[in-house]
Amino acid sequence: MPDALYQLVYYSRNHIAGDQAAFTANVENILAASRRNNVRDGITGALLFNNGCFAQVLEGPLGVVEAAFERIQQDERHGEVSLLALSPIETRSFPNWAMGYVGSSAAQAASFSAIGQGSGFDLSLLGSEEIHRILRDLAVEEESAAA
Ligand SMILES: Cc1cc2nc3c(=O)[nH]c(=O)nc-3n(C[C@H](O)[C@H](O)[C@H](O)COP(=O)(O)O)c2cc1C
Repeated sequence: MPDALYQLVYYSRNHIAGDQAAFTANVENILAASRRNNVRDGITGALLFNNGCFAQVLEGPLGVVEAAFERIQQDERHGEVSLLALSPIETRSFPNWAMGYVGSSAAQAASFSAIGQGSGFDLSLLGSEEIHRILRDLAVEEESAAA
């Protein structure tokens, strides 16, 4: 029987100093390490950046998800890492994304503005279900745009 699947959701505050170029370079570096490790570990998920906060969904077998979260919490490129949810799931929401990243394109900005109304764009004010829903909707949009 395959290992039971879990989903972890957290948010954190960006600590990357410097200009936009420094931020972009750091995010590229984070995504490269994430994709390499997550493919190895059987983790999928998505990372969102908005208004100085990261939010991330990680899904996979419990042991590897917890180990990834331990590493992520030690990373000084962000801080105030707050766990929002760790729960068993039946199926993956991001089966095709070793680590999807949203936080740049115009389409994404438009879908943020819809949720931004209530939250003022502040990811720390959103609950885990809402973060999960936003990321899943954006993933579906990205995949249908790419198809
Ligand atoms: C916001 C954020 C999200 C991250 N997400 C992941 C992730 O999904 N998987 C992962 O392995 N590392 C992730 N990292 C990077 C880890 O903190 C760490 O740098 C990396 O796992 C080290 O991998 P390496 O030893 O292979 O270089 C993330 C870091 C940050 C700041």
